[in-house]
Amino acid sequence: MCGIIGYIGNQKASPILINGLLRLEYRGYDSAGISTIEKNGLSVMKDKGRVQNLYNLDGINDLEGTIGIAHTRWATHGKPSKENSHPHLDNSNSFAVVHNGIIENYNDLRKFLSDNGYIFHSQTDTEVIPNLIHYYYSKDKNNDELKILRAVQSTCKDLKGSFAIQVITKYMPDNMIVIRKDSPLVIGKGNGENYISSDIPAILSFTKDFYLLNDYEFALLSRDKIEFYDMDLNKIKKEVKSIEWSASAADKNGYEDYMLKEIFEQPNAIRETIGSRLPENEPCNFDDLNFSKEFLSKFNKMYIVACGTAMHAGLSGKIAIEKLCNIPVTVDIASEFRYRNPIIDKNTLCIYISQSGETADTIAALKLSKAKGATTLAVSNVIGSSITREADYCIYTHAGPEIAVASTKAYTSQVILLNILALYFAEVLGSVPAEEISKIKKEILALPSKIDEALKSAKSIKKFAKKIYLQKDVFFLGRGVDYNTALEGSLKLKEISYIHSEAYAAGELKHGPIALIENGVTVISIITDENLVEKTISNIQEVITRGANTLVVTNKNLPSNNINTIIEIPDTHVLLSPIVSIIPLQLLSYYISKEKGLDVDKPRNLAKSVTVE
Ligand code: F6R
Repeated sequence: MCGIIGYIGNQKASPILINGLLRLEYRGYDSAGISTIEKNGLSVMKDKGRVQNLYNLDGINDLEGTIGIAHTRWATHGKPSKENSHPHLDNSNSFAVVHNGIIENYNDLRKFLSDNGYIFHSQTDTEVIPNLIHYYYSKDKNNDELKILRAVQSTCKDLKGSFAIQVITKYMPDNMIVIRKDSPLVIGKGNGENYISSDIPAILSFTKDFYLLNDYEFALLSRDKIEFYDMDLNKIKKEVKSIEWSASAADKNGYEDYMLKEIFEQPNAIRETIGSRLPENEPCNFDDLNFSKEFLSKFNKMYIVACGTAMHAGLSGKIAIEKLCNIPVTVDIASEFRYRNPIIDKNTLCIYISQSGETADTIAALKLSKAKGATTLAVSNVIGSSITREADYCIYTHAGPEIAVASTKAYTSQVILLNILALYFAEVLGSVPAEEISKIKKEILALPSKIDEALKSAKSIKKFAKKIYLQKDVFFLGRGVDYNTALEGSLKLKEISYIHSEAYAAGELKHGPIALIENGVTVISIITDENLVEKTISNIQEVITRGANTLVVTNKNLPSNNINTIIEIPDTHVLLSPIVSIIPLQLLSYYISKEKGLDVDKPRNLAKSVTVE
């Protein structure tokens, strides 16, 4: 989704801005642009296509400005084109603006501005913003230092929807203004220079100190000062947050693609996420929650709400909480939950999972459940992200920055954290015998080396990928926890290889989809639950009889049974097996995508952080 970068300092801004945009490329975009404050006013350089193209624009090397804003656009209003690219200027070329989010009432605002003589050059919702700022600026008869902030404030009061906005103006050539509501934006604090970004990894090589804005908070930046204001323009104080991620964690580190690097980082991501949560011979450590038995006992049901891969992690969380705590859990898709008027109240615990912590639907769903009196708990990978600030409670996965659009290490880290959370609940509630709990804990601690082992399947998987990469349809089957893995494996394949795939609970096959099985169709099955081996094997035989080409990922000793390829993975507790069994499926989608010559890290039409509905 759109990305924002800003720089204010003493160095030439344009190379820093373009470099920052390159680091945001993974978010997905179709056009890019920058604006700097030059001696003779504001300059804007932009075009559709890759960020790299900005280097070739006439005059880009002549820019001398040391303050600038930059943007990668992911089209919502108006097709990808130079005119629709950001930054946008007002009619008098006095204000340059970049914006992430969606202005829902832009038609009304456009009409208002047109009635007041303003002309529009793009089809975007964003272009109303610099013009509204100009409108309010020119109406304001006071010439004090807050005049521009007032114009931005009045503008933001008119905007409905979501926004992260950066403004530079010829009237304040040594400043920059930023404000946000429901769209991500972070401020990196440097030494005599400051940075703006949509997310932390893009500016990690410049600073590890960040300020995070809440909704409707402004920052007025100069080279060596950052002042914060609330929506009424009262000055507010903000704490700087230091981020532990290393800059190299956001590099490819010798791997061909971020996705491959992130797949191979999973043993460590799991190790980091387990962290100190499983102290020896002691209960799970969640001192960030510290729930009492009385507090947990009041919840008669739980919801786990998320989108995409994070929702699939939630499905594993449901199985763990229901099994270990005996509390019913519903998993819901955030974009459905938020419009369904869900039946929740003060006796409901709603758990929200989001790697980025910025997914618009997940944040909206969280706000809804808070308004209905439920207790909310966020699970995120990004410290200080919006969701973690909205929720009553928050716990973190420690997967490190995830750059590839297709989520891998964040997913397995979410699954492990949800399992540890379920164990913690069970310990507090006393709902499971201690021996069962310590058996699972032991298995959790062994997971990093089991993932290492599963990664060794890469060679055989690559071979299988070469055989099937031209297929049009692929089916994934599983039962119980393995059905969740089938869903996630299928999503990975669609996302980065553009092959149509479907995941089915294996027992559902004969209720319809088996009609699609014909000679040569690939069917991938996962078998890790010993209680369901026979059942799933029978379903696989049904597709083999109809000519399917089959691959099975399993931690059981299966007879070959005419299965074409069997990928063996290490055995573990059934609740944890999705963390190991997904590894060959992540590798499979990766190698198929490579075989097809596709851009693995930046698949078409997708964005890393989905900050609009
Ligand atoms: C798939 C993928 C997406 C995200 C979804 C939620 O590989 O990455 O399905 O899982 O967009 O994103 P977060 O977790 O940031 O809320």
